Order: sequence, then structure tokens, then C-alpha cells
Amino acid sequence: MDKQVETLQQQLKEQEKLAALGMLSAGIAHEIQNPLNFVINFSKMSGKLMSDLIEIVEDNKDKLSEEDLEEVNDIVADLKDNMSKIVEHGERAISIIRGILLVSRGKDGEFIPSDVAHIVKEYVWLSYHAMRANYKNFNISIHENYQENIPQMMVIPQDLSRAVLNVMNNACYAVWKKQQDNPEYEPKIEVSVKTEGNNLLINISDNGEGMTDEAKQRLYDNFYTTKPIGQGTGLGMGITRDIIESRHGGKITFDSVLNEGTSFTFQIPIRQVK
Ligand SMILES: Nc1ncnc2c1ncn2[C@@H]1O[C@H](COP(=O)(O)OP(=O)(O)O)[C@@H](O)[C@H]1O
Ligand SMILES: [Mg+2]
Repeated sequence: MDKQVETLQQQLKEQEKLAALGMLSAGIAHEIQNPLNFVINFSKMSGKLMSDLIEIVEDNKDKLSEEDLEEVNDIVADLKDNMSKIVEHGERAISIIRGILLVSRGKDGEFIPSDVAHIVKEYVWLSYHAMRANYKNFNISIHENYQENIPQMMVIPQDLSRAVLNVMNNACYAVWKKQQDNPEYEPKIEVSVKTEGNNLLINISDNGEGMTDEAKQRLYDNFYTTKPIGQGTGLGMGITRDIIESRHGGKITFDSVLNEGTSFTFQIPIRQVK
């Protein structure tokens, strides 16, 4: 079969999977919110009960031996610690779910008020975990830098998340690939989100295998891929450019040095929430 037809069929299958997965994950995210909130709230409440308990013990400390008193205090301190860990990790889970719901809330192609740093963060980690699940020995460090208090802005969250995912997947692959024949090498990806004047800047930089001159020239060509069949379709960057430039009126720039790494920047004009 013609390679392009094969690639296209594969991309269609992937699309189908993604669409089904998107629907499912939105449903799951929604359903998991309530039980998670219960876990968090009951842990918080239990933490408060522990404090009450300590007060009662304090008021009655003359009725306990010194040893028993110490043990009770230790146990309660551990329990309080456990409760706050449950709250912390529960809140982390809620944050992931919020990311998924945020993205699934808008209709196709609809601009809605969004927390862009939150979206970028969640999709960076989704990509990372997908890579970890699919590639053996995938172990990299991710350095994140999100400007604080970026105001909500109008974007198409479904598309923006897709663009972040595409670039992040490529970055993950590039470092993973380089890792295969360089055991000493320390794979690293840096992500930053900030505003500059009227623009939002999202940067994803890797210290992976970098691009050849041919790859740089053909980067956005549909079906251009240097990956083996099944790993790449060559459509990711074309879609990403469409999302950033045509849909959001922004610009993608990149810089890449073979064997050293690649850096992508999305510059998106800020559309304020009215
Ligand atoms: N971060 C990167 N590091 C190295 N090469 C990259 C990177 N991003 C993109 N490329 C090159 O651009 C090609 C096209 O990317 P893309 O359109 O996402 O298709 P695919 O990932 O399916 O190959 C990749 O096959 C790769 O050669
Ligand atoms: Mg890709």
C-alpha cells in the first residue's frame, strides 16, 4: 500500500481513538469529582477532629501516664500528617480533572475564558505520563516555569491543549530517542508560560536529538515524519501551526540544533475576557 494512504488510515484510527477517549475522559473526570471532593472534605474534617482530640487529651493529661501521653500525641501527629497528605494529593487529582474538564467544556472551535497556564501544565503532564506508559525506560526531568497570576483569556482550549500535546509529545520523543544510545545523557524538557505585552508566550524546549536541515524545512509538511510507522504520522506540526496561527492569530517559531535540542515558542495575541 502507498505509504501516505497507510499513514492517513493510521491517523484516522488515532483520531477516532482520541475522540472516543476525549468523550470518555470528560465523563470520567466529571464522575470522579464528587467522590474526590468527599475524600478531601472528610480528610480536612478529620484533621480538625484530631485537633479537638488533642485538646481533650491536654485537658486530661494528669489521668494518663507520661508514656501514654507521648504515644497519643505521636499517633495524633502522624494521623494529622496523613490527613494533610490525603488532602494534598486529592487536590492534585482535582486539579488534573479540572484541566480535562476545562478543555472539554467548550464546543468545537469555541473561544472561552481559560486559565492557559493550567491547561499547559496539565497537558504537559498528560503527555509525559502517556510517554512513560508507552516507552520503556522513559525517565526525564521537566522544569516548569509559569508566570503567576496570568489573567484568564479567550482561547479555544481544545485546540490549545492539542497544540501543547503535539509539541510536548515530539519533545518527549526527541529526548527518549537520544537517550537510547547515550546512557550518560540527562534528558530534560523546559516549559514556560508568560505574558509579554499583548502576547502570551508558551515555550517548550528539549535537549533531545534536534532536527536536520531537511526536518526543519519540512517540519510543517503533512506526512513528513522521521519516526517509524506506528510512532509518527507527520501531521502533528501542521495541525499545531493551524491551531496557533490560523485559529488563534499567533505565530510559532522554533530553533533547533542537531544533537543538541529544539525549542518551540507559541506567541498568541491575548484576547481579553470581556
Ligand atoms: N522536538 C523535536 N525534536 C526533534 N525533531 C522534531 C521535534 N519536533 C518535531 N520534530 C521533527 O518533525 C517531524 C514532524 O513532526 P510532526 O508533524 O509532529 O510529526 P510526527 O511527530 O508524527 O513525526 C518529526 O518526525 C521530527 O523529525
Ligand atoms: Mg508529532
